[in-house]
Amino acid sequence: MSQSRQAATRRRLPVMALAAAGLGLALTAGTVSAEDGMQQMELSHGSIIGATCMGCHGFKGMGSGEIPRLAGLPEGVTAGKMTAYKSGSQEGTVMNRIAKGYTDEEIQAVAAFFAKQ
Ligand code: HEC
Repeated sequence: MSQSRQAATRRRLPVMALAAAGLGLALTAGTVSAEDGMQQMELSHGSIIGATCMGCHGFKGMGSGEIPRLAGLPEGVTAGKMTAYKSGSQEGTVMNRIAKGYTDEEIQAVAAFFAKQ
């Protein structure tokens, strides 16, 4: 009895290993395509980047406490400030580090997004 069960387990293992490998492959493929999609969205949609700013700058960039409002600021003003923070020509507490994380295209996209709020 126990021998035949062992044999059955032995027979099943390669199948399960194959299934696991297949699942792993499918998951990997899924992750890669999802990331590709995200990157395209981040580059083309200021709203995706903008969402990361709202934790501090308030819903839709309306401002929150001491943190300045971004909503309705002309695109050039927000982009100019972000670029100044990025280069270090304007000093802030957190914005220098944050601005350094974005390309000029991303800064333009998020500035355009907040200009429309
Ligand atoms: C961790 C909180 C935090 C996050 C996240 C954040 N900011 Fe800021 N932001 C600040 C603070 C605080 C200031 C005031 C300057 C300083 O101290 O760095 C500021 C200032 C600014 C200013 C200058 C506004 C003005 O009128 O002078 C701009 C533009 C700006 N942030 C854009 C952004 C954008 C765009 C994002 C998202 C990519 C963002 N911020 C994310 C906290 C944050």
